[in-house]
Amino acid sequence: MNAAALRAQYPVLDSVAYLNAGTCGPLPAAAVRAGGVAGRAASDHGRGNAYFEELMWVRERLRAAYAGVIGAQPEEVSLTTSTSDGMARVLSSLSLQRGDEVLTADDEHPGLYGPLAAARAHLGIDVRAVALADIADAVTPRTRLVACSHVSWISGAFAPDALASLGEQVPVLLDGAQAAGAVPVDVGELGCAFYAAAGQKWLCGPVGTGLLWVAPSWRERLAVTTPTWVNLSAPGDGLEAEPWPDARALDTPALSYEVMVAAMTAHDVLDVVGWSAVHERATGLAATLAERLDSTGRTVAPRGNSTLVAWEQPNPDAAVARLAREGVSVRSLPGTPYVRASVGAWNDKSDLEQLLAAL
Ligand SMILES: Cc1ncc(COP(=O)(O)O)c(C=O)c1O
Repeated sequence: MNAAALRAQYPVLDSVAYLNAGTCGPLPAAAVRAGGVAGRAASDHGRGNAYFEELMWVRERLRAAYAGVIGAQPEEVSLTTSTSDGMARVLSSLSLQRGDEVLTADDEHPGLYGPLAAARAHLGIDVRAVALADIADAVTPRTRLVACSHVSWISGAFAPDALASLGEQVPVLLDGAQAAGAVPVDVGELGCAFYAAAGQKWLCGPVGTGLLWVAPSWRERLAVTTPTWVNLSAPGDGLEAEPWPDARALDTPALSYEVMVAAMTAHDVLDVVGWSAVHERATGLAATLAERLDSTGRTVAPRGNSTLVAWEQPNPDAAVARLAREGVSVRSLPGTPYVRASVGAWNDKSDLEQLLAAL
């Protein structure tokens, strides 16, 4: 992999040790250019039939691209506006009922807790939270769904492999916000029923992009509760119109041509490098950072072979602000003693050194 050539695609790295892809990945210049060209074409030529034909074409290209990142088939992947959007779609489409238990982890992101709390308030489900490491063993006969991170946004730890053996009885919804594009993901091997992820984090696309994978065996069991015309196979059929029989039934209507072109281009910048190389470089650099922090006496949160490194820091918010002044972009994690660095294939040792020196 030509690491320097990849790094050169991301202008932010010219001036910042950008270690914040867990929030939003660095935007490649090519994606901004391509989105701009698409917007200018729309402005110059109007947004008539030709615009819509292009929009439908790029939509299917993006679907196939996202499917490739998680080892899925394109017809199984819905395009969403975010990870949270995908998870909310699943929770509102599963026909959960009063008394059903959803098992989750005790350090999940608000993007999952939000829809879970809404389902508890409006549907009367019970939500039980346990440590992510114990989640597979905490399933009981009352559990109707397990919903948790694939990679924890706090520690960078992975969900236990044992989730894959829960089988068809208890579906698993994985929040892949910190995994898709960052580490190898194969939804078949994970054995989950639903996998939601972001376009703006480790795929470096614009904010407002995301994906939702639904296992073929679960597709028909999800009610399409808020269809828009894009979700209908023959919108002209009026009140008799049916949702698409595939993942298009859960697509968001909110993705513009311009945004999808930018997302597609951002994906392609990494795709041409090769996902294995991208994952290997990012996880390798993250492991190096964790070791260096540990060897300088910092307490690093127990993590897996992911791209996130969180360490205990007195007054995390003040430290993040001070690091920002020194040209290092990291974040704190509300309610925890941690500052978190997100390490991507676009980073290099100089970013890590800059962080360590500034600490
Ligand atoms: C684990 C996890 N889930 C969900 C989200 C929310 O992501 P999105 O903005 O794509 O909904 C984040 C964002 O930081 C996250 O880390």
